[in-house]
Amino acid sequence: MGELKVLDHPLIQHKLTMIRDHRTGTKAFRELVDEVGTLMAFEITRDLPLEEVDVQTPVTTAKAYRLSGKKLGIIPILRAGLGMMDGVLNLIPAAKVGHVGLYRDPKTLEPVEYYVKLPSDIHERELIVVDPMLATGGSASAAIQSLKDRGAVNIKLMCLIGAPEGVKRIQQDHDDVDIYLAALDEKLNEKGYIVPGLGDAGDRLFGTK
Ligand code: PRP
Ligand code: URA
Repeated sequence: MGELKVLDHPLIQHKLTMIRDHRTGTKAFRELVDEVGTLMAFEITRDLPLEEVDVQTPVTTAKAYRLSGKKLGIIPILRAGLGMMDGVLNLIPAAKVGHVGLYRDPKTLEPVEYYVKLPSDIHERELIVVDPMLATGGSASAAIQSLKDRGAVNIKLMCLIGAPEGVKRIQQDHDDVDIYLAALDEKLNEKGYIVPGLGDAGDRLFGTK
């Protein structure tokens, strides 16, 4: 089974508290989600493969390390996933970006796919799917399936807040995918919102309602 990792770094937890606060306005919310995206990316990329190279310093030649293999792919789930994308790209600026457009039908809570545009070589890349919210898990599961249907084999999922229901869904549907959260919350309410959560991530990021 894929691992569930809750990234409890103090900076992530502090910023997440401000993100949750209903008084936090759009500008600050966006900046904080961006910052947490960067901090989470730092943790998630810990196991990237390295290769040894020679480097000529001003003093001598030394053995040193650099990242090996293909560059990563970042896959934001539209639209709220866009809020975490730049934060990840701050650390990994050469990553390719693919988009999966999904919205959750407010009545059925089922994901509806409306857009997919991916790098051509996703089967060779490690992909990080980003979306602030893992609620029922329907959207993330469908996005991951969409990537797999197009050849992806190496996928991580990074969300700010997850509900137990969403984690279970991903573990059932995609047992090869590691899940990274800043917090695992208590439950979903009757409307499928995460409790305590942060409300509607897309609306808070983009100032819509
Ligand atoms: C939100 C969120 C996830 C999804 C999570 O998107 O960003 O994609 O809901 O819910 P689930 O786990 O139950 O599928 P939403 O459908 O509100 O669309 P948006 O990003 O366009 O606002
Ligand atoms: N989508 C959101 O934006 N928030 C939730 O709590 C659940 C799904």
